[in-house]
Amino acid sequence: MAFREEFLEKQEYAEQVLRKYFSEEDLGKNRLGDAMRHAVFSGGKRLRPLFMLSAYEMYGGSSEIIEPFMAAIEMIHAYSLVHDDLPAMDNDTLRHGKPSTWSAYGEAMGILAGDGLLTFAFQTAASALRIQDPNVTGETITACIWFLAEKAGPIGMCLGQALDVDYTGTEIPEDVLADINDKKTGALFEASFFIGAALAGASQEECEALEYAASLVGRAFQLRDDILDIIGEEQVLGKKTNSDEKNNKSNFVTRHGVEAADRKVRELTQEALDILEKLSGDSEFLSALILELADRSF
Ligand code: IPE
Ligand code: IPE
Ligand code: MG
Ligand code: MG
Ligand code: MG
Repeated sequence: MAFREEFLEKQEYAEQVLRKYFSEEDLGKNRLGDAMRHAVFSGGKRLRPLFMLSAYEMYGGSSEIIEPFMAAIEMIHAYSLVHDDLPAMDNDTLRHGKPSTWSAYGEAMGILAGDGLLTFAFQTAASALRIQDPNVTGETITACIWFLAEKAGPIGMCLGQALDVDYTGTEIPEDVLADINDKKTGALFEASFFIGAALAGASQEECEALEYAASLVGRAFQLRDDILDIIGEEQVLGKKTNSDEKNNKSNFVTRHGVEAADRKVRELTQEALDILEKLSGDSEFLSALILELADRSF
């Protein structure tokens, strides 16, 4: 199947999986649920569930055991964006071409929608324990839930955001810059790649190689995001440009310029592709996706 076709097909599958978990039956009908739905269904590329599904299929995974984890990673991502846009953080009013969650539902509901999404993500991931898959043990599922928490929490994405906040307005040391990107963006990519492969029964060694490749892709992805914050188009991105300048953020792009950052994106992407090529699973789709992201305009 051509890359584009496969991408759209997988994206639609991720969309369907997400819809299943946001029914009125599961969430009730109230403003908190509405704000959570706004956060998840206002748009988004669904990259993290796609990464996870691709890593799963790379090692022959084919059961619905992947679904709660695909939904959970996107819920965590959506929560991170809801909180990232809050007045106390990036103070952004536009996301996915629509009012950001706090600007649509108020600041308090923005905080609560993030809380709800993060908690619901773990409830959703834990529901994998109810799915029968003869190839996946309860122990593997529990390990994946643990891994998800580690990558989302105080040594993962949440720490990355905390460092981003703490270093605002300062000249961030070069190694800290890389560390912030690794954590705030790389960590959820690592969880996606690793959990996908682990649920399909890939070896620990291959899971860890994928985790490392994901950290490189994450770093490249955040660099591209920072480039697009300067040269991107608001209409295409669905979010306001020049957010970093407005918030007095220093990053690799503001420090070294767009060209140097673009070279770095390419280097990191190539390094990740080289790792994937050496793995035993068929990484054709995942590699094509990673390559596509280096040039993305949204
Ligand atoms: C945006 O991520 C936040 C960053 C980590 C740079 P995405 O570009 O994946 O967000 P979606 O596609 O709008 O969900
Ligand atoms: C945030 O980075 C990454 C997250 C973990 C949410 P940015 O603040 O640059 O993300 P955007 O540009 O608002 O999407
Ligand atoms: Mg931010
Ligand atoms: Mg932001
Ligand atoms: Mg940004």
